Amino acid sequence: MIRYLTAGESHGHALVGIVEGVPAGLPISADYIDHQLRRRQQGYGRGGRMRIEADNVEIVSGVRFGKTIGSPIALIIRNRDSQAWKEKMAVESDGEEVEMVTIPRPGHADFAGSTKYGFDDIRNAIERASARETAMRVACCTIVRKMLEEFGIFIGSHVLSIGTAKISDRGAVDRMIGKYTKASCGAYKITEEADKSQVRMLAKPVESKAVALIKSAKKLGDTLGGVFEVIATGAPIGLGSYVHYDRKLDGLLAQALMSIQAVKGVEIGSGFLNAEKFGSQVHDAYGLSHGKIVRLSNRAGGLEGGVTNGETIVLRGAMKPISTLARPLPSVDLKTKRVVKARYERSDVCAVPACSVIAEAVITPALANAFLEKYGGDSMAEIRKRYSKDRNR
Ligand SMILES: Cc1cc2nc3c(=O)[nH]c(=O)nc-3n(C[C@H](O)[C@H](O)[C@H](O)COP(=O)(O)O)c2cc1C
Repeated sequence: MIRYLTAGESHGHALVGIVEGVPAGLPISADYIDHQLRRRQQGYGRGGRMRIEADNVEIVSGVRFGKTIGSPIALIIRNRDSQAWKEKMAVESDGEEVEMVTIPRPGHADFAGSTKYGFDDIRNAIERASARETAMRVACCTIVRKMLEEFGIFIGSHVLSIGTAKISDRGAVDRMIGKYTKASCGAYKITEEADKSQVRMLAKPVESKAVALIKSAKKLGDTLGGVFEVIATGAPIGLGSYVHYDRKLDGLLAQALMSIQAVKGVEIGSGFLNAEKFGSQVHDAYGLSHGKIVRLSNRAGGLEGGVTNGETIVLRGAMKPISTLARPLPSVDLKTKRVVKARYERSDVCAVPACSVIAEAVITPALANAFLEKYGGDSMAEIRKRYSKDRNR
């Protein structure tokens, strides 16, 4: 089974990751991972840091001559602006010269985190709670994604809304998605199309509205959130299980999405819309096409009973607006106990496009583990044999 851990502070020396359980014989390169890291840094509304950081991963172990060798894969991404933070983030000095952060930002982990760990300096909480960590998550998960792709499972995403700029003609977008997913790279074609938009939206007029909204939020010293959709094609029937709560793939995918910083809502298929309708308007009827069982719709989003049902997997995530505001909300200085304005530090105005890219990555371990549970082996060759035997049955 695949597991991964990341380490590293936002302005520390580097981010570090270890991925364990990746089968031997998977072709992978730093370039392949870097492409996904670059995608994570895009999107209209990002802050200044994205111009400083051009993330590159270094593969330290677990890969030889371009292929995994079954041992743990260690990765490093160096933080390019760490020089400027050398004193503030020193590992060994006593830090006496460094000014402490004592004013928490509403919506961030500042107060809850520093109270939990007993910090006088909120910086200790800020540094690890920051979504900078997702760079390493994307790097680790891109290796897992590559494994899924080798078995024809492709993942894509796009943004449905930013603030009030929403895709209202869902039918048109669904038709587009239906066409894209027929490409040889399945749902990844959605990603390629969405990447052409600066806010990763598939509808041009909504894109312009979203960009204008982000511009005006920035002017007002405010921020925006939104909703994104992640789609996976090619997953065979029978991944996950209904037998235990912790084997239900819908629950595991929801957890993965919810673990992304600032994601506060998750939906599987048309979950929330379905709740307003009669069962007869919701459930995906069966039919026959050339002797094969087919579904006449996919409102369940490809999962029934915590198990993949052979349809496209459709997940959505709602990201709250960024909590660091240039025009800050009231806060309390924890040192002086006076009501003051919250602190501002360099920040994004909107990171929904980036969040959708992160979401594509972080669902892969859940999906891959369900796949390996059914078809797993120590090497890609072994898994391939098991998978093709099952497919040809
Ligand atoms: C891609 C991405 C970029 C983010 N950028 C910022 C940012 O620049 N400033 C900020 O205050 N929060 C940012 N966040 C959100 C915070 O990391 C998050 O709100 C914080 O860690 C508290 O966690 P919670 O919102 O999950 O409760 C970002 C989140 C993501 C996914």
